[in-house]
Parts: sequence; C-alpha cells; structure tokens
Amino acid sequence: MFYFLFFINLFLSLLVSTGKVSTLEAINGSTVLLPCTYSSCIGIKNLYFNWHYDDNGTMIKLCEAVIPIEGVEPRVFVYHERVEFVGSSKSNNISILLWNITFEDQGNYLCFARNEKEKFRNHTAIYTLLVVDQIKEVDKSLTVIIVSVLGGVIGLSIIFMVIKGLVVHFLLNDGEKNKECLVSSGNDNTENGHSGAKADNKGTPKA
Ligand SMILES: *[C@@H]1O[C@H](CO)[C@@H](O)[C@H](O)[C@H]1NC(C)=O
Ligand SMILES: *[C@@H]1O[C@H](CO)[C@@H](O)[C@H](O)[C@H]1NC(C)=O
Ligand SMILES: *[C@@H]1O[C@H](CO)[C@@H](O)[C@H](O)[C@H]1NC(C)=O
Ligand SMILES: *[C@@H]1O[C@H](CO)[C@@H](O)[C@H](O)[C@H]1NC(C)=O
Ligand SMILES: *[C@@H]1O[C@H](CO)[C@@H](O)[C@H](O)[C@H]1NC(C)=O
Repeated sequence: MFYFLFFINLFLSLLVSTGKVSTLEAINGSTVLLPCTYSSCIGIKNLYFNWHYDDNGTMIKLCEAVIPIEGVEPRVFVYHERVEFVGSSKSNNISILLWNITFEDQGNYLCFARNEKEKFRNHTAIYTLLVVDQIKEVDKSLTVIIVSVLGGVIGLSIIFMVIKGLVVHFLLNDGEKNKECLVSSGNDNTENGHSGAKADNKGTPKA
C-alpha cells in the first residue's frame, strides 16, 4: 500500500530537480549557473517558485516568481544584486546565475516550488556550491568519474522504479487510461523543505 501511494505520487506530483549533479566546485570570481527544473504530469497552474541561500541556517531569499500557466514567462522579483534569472517556462527551467562569486557564497542553495494544481504541496531541490581557488585537474577527473558512476547507478534505479511504478499503476488502474508521461532524471528532490523563510534583502555587496 505504501508503495502504491508512493508511485502514484511519483506520477502525479511536481518534480523539482537540480539535474544529475547537485554539487559544484567553482572558482572564486567566476559566474555560476545554479540549475533547477520542474516537471509535472498533471500540468501547472500558478506555480510559485523561489530560490534561497542557506546562510548558516538563516534563509536568504534570492528571488521569487509565479508562473501562471505553462509557457507564460514569469515576472521574477530578484532580491540579490548578483543574481540573474535565466530560466524560461518554455523549457520548465527556473535556473539562476550567480555573478562574481566569492568564498562567502559557498553553501546550499534551495530551489523551492509549489504547484497550485497539487493542493500546495511543497518541493525543494538543494544545490551545493563550493568555491575554490583553482580547480585541480586530477581531482576534477576523479570527481567526474565518481559522478558518472553514481549517476549511472541512480539512473538505473530510477528507471527501475519508474517501470515498477508503471506496472503497479496499470495493474491497479486497469479501467482508467492515463496519458503516459516521462519524468526526467532528478535525484535531489525533497518534499516540504523549509517553511516561513524570511525575505531578507541581501543588499550589501561583498568585497
Ligand atoms: C577572490 O576573487 C576576488 C575577485 O576576483 C578577489 O578580489 C579576491 O582577492 C579573491 N579572494 C581570494 C581569497 O583569492
Ligand atoms: C554558524 O552558526 C553557528 C551557531 O548557530 C555558529 O557557531 C557559527 O560560528 C556560525 N558560522 C558562521 C560562519 O557564521
Ligand atoms: C561582475 O564583475 C565584473 C568585473 O568586476 C563587473 O563588471 C560586473 O558588473 C559584475 N557583475 C555583477 C552582476 O556584479
Ligand atoms: C536552463 O537555462 C539556462 C540558461 O538559458 C541554461 O544554461 C541551462 O542549460 C538550462 N537548463 C536546462 C536543464 O535546460
Ligand atoms: C509549504 O510551505 C509553506 C511556506 O513556504 C507553508 O506555509 C506550508 O504550510 C507548506 N505546505 C505544506 C503542505 O507543507
């Protein structure tokens, strides 16, 4: 029964994802893309999303917007001077750019989304940024190998789960034909993440 509920949820709910890699090393002074995408089989309506930076426990809101319906570009309110919204609702993309990073920008970035069609369930994907002096080549290739192996394993288990979910789904819903839908790979979805984060303005530039 638990599995049944879980897989039905997998099909109906919004997925928020940072993609295959959720940790990134970037060089001090560079500009990084903080990726986040969403997907939903039942479609979206008034999809609210925001980005927060977890500043040692204090949530700092970086930007927020509402996407009224699919394909309509959101009007994004940005509260951080080095943040730029680069997503597009045409590609379900709610990524942001963080310009000219410093060591103080290290930490967790939370991409939060809530779909009105889903009775306001919360979805959060977490992206971890590490700021380094320079990226060491050896470490980098090792990381890439580890990440791709991990990615393969995770990908396989997702495929397995989706197939299992499909089987369960169709066994238990024989009469009712749902439209098929593919969920893009994403491994970092957590539900009901933070709540009531303060909307602090991060107005001061960092030296
Ligand atoms: C980081 O980069 C900034 C701008 O490029 C530079 O001013 C600063 O000195 C650098 N910090 C360190 C610790 O290298
Ligand atoms: C983070 O918070 C803890 C306690 O909440 C404090 O001891 C620590 O110094 C803080 N670190 C930074 C970098 O602010
Ligand atoms: C990033 O740094 C460059 C060079 O210091 C500056 O020209 C640019 O305005 C900065 N961009 C932002 C968004 O702060
Ligand atoms: C989201 O948009 C940005 C900027 O256009 C792009 O660099 C990035 O690859 C896109 N991400 C996805 C998953 O499409
Ligand atoms: C979702 O998060 C909001 C705050 O962002 C909170 O008020 C609400 O209770 C949460 N909803 C659920 C179903 O957890």
